[in-house]
Amino acid sequence: MRCIECGKAHDMAKPVYACSSCGNLLEIRMDRAAALARLAKGDLQRRPISVWRYRELLPVGANSKIFSLNEGGTPLIRCDALGRELGLRELYVKFDGTNPTGSFKDRGMTVGITKAAELGMKVVTCASTGNTSASLAAYAGLAGMKCVVLIPEGKVALGKLAQAMMHGALVVSVKGSFDDALDVVMKSSDKLGMYVLNSVNPFRIEGQKTAAFEICDQLNGSPPDYLYIPVGNGGNSAAYWKGFAEYESLGVVSSHPIIRGIQAEGSAPVAKMFATGADTLTPVKKPDTVATAIRIGNPANWKKTVRAIKESGGSASTVTDGEILAAQKKLATVQGIFAEPAGAAALAGLIKDVRAGELDKSSRVVCVSTGHGLKDPDVAISQSVKPKVIDATLDALGKMLEG
Ligand code: F0G
Repeated sequence: MRCIECGKAHDMAKPVYACSSCGNLLEIRMDRAAALARLAKGDLQRRPISVWRYRELLPVGANSKIFSLNEGGTPLIRCDALGRELGLRELYVKFDGTNPTGSFKDRGMTVGITKAAELGMKVVTCASTGNTSASLAAYAGLAGMKCVVLIPEGKVALGKLAQAMMHGALVVSVKGSFDDALDVVMKSSDKLGMYVLNSVNPFRIEGQKTAAFEICDQLNGSPPDYLYIPVGNGGNSAAYWKGFAEYESLGVVSSHPIIRGIQAEGSAPVAKMFATGADTLTPVKKPDTVATAIRIGNPANWKKTVRAIKESGGSASTVTDGEILAAQKKLATVQGIFAEPAGAAALAGLIKDVRAGELDKSSRVVCVSTGHGLKDPDVAISQSVKPKVIDATLDALGKMLEG
């Protein structure tokens, strides 16, 4: 486990989230030779597709007890109807909303909670715009740990709140944004002895990188040309890049996608860096967007994601709330995929690029849909036609349909 800035090594058997010398983020570096040796004797491709198919590429002890809900192995759905509309040759959606708690967070959480148990932690915590808290609550219950989640008051979608409460977490509403809540969580970890499972925890990223392995495997070893992905705190985009880069460095694949990070216009500090060429992040003080999952003004992983996107040869840009909602509706009506608003942001970014003529239409494109639409019933209902009420007769139905 090394600092991404100064490279200082840190003990993986201790709960640390930042470099003890310079305070920067930590990452797990893979020992390539050891990984190659494990792969050589391994039977990875014969196992069912899931996070733990890739166990040899994940930093958990050989004898560790794994806490799993069978996460990962999510469908890579070929979207021909949508592809035709956009004039794209090959379009896929990686629907990570089909994970056990309905978002990609489960990939990181199974590894994070397994690590928490290795470290002997009894209480876990996170700040969350909703999905992390739902996922953490579920896995903490599974592992018999106590769970404390901090959420921005009034800004968490109903389904996610119900999940965190139902799974037995202590849910705390903070008067402020996600960024304020994360600030409190980070400060409290030392003092209160709780293990932090936000994406600043590098083991979360390790679990999430498996989505990139899966995409390569699902495309029979030919990675896409472009990967569109929403950016909030910046962990998932960095995780995908880590996965693609590791698979390439191990020789499993011989190319990688260009990553296009998509942010909501009202919460877009990373996209702003790309637009202005700035080399440090200026936080957005009052982030706002209908996609509450990515309503984040001060992404903790900005350095990781900016690096990842640049290394891939990509960039980050914005979409409006209107574009997000239109993409959400399109995905639901044309492809049968019900994503929450943040889970449609990547598609909104793709549609915008296609309309601007910025994409070679013969490209193979994957959009990541990060969370299920059932998470946020309020937004779905507010943009749909209300059910009509009729008498229970054939006549009434006929008349209504005529109308
Ligand atoms: N999509 C969804 C559905 C999310 O819940 C999140 C983040 C993202 C995208 C962005 O991913 O932060 O790794 O860049 N949700 C976090 C949470 C912040 O608390 O649930 P990121």
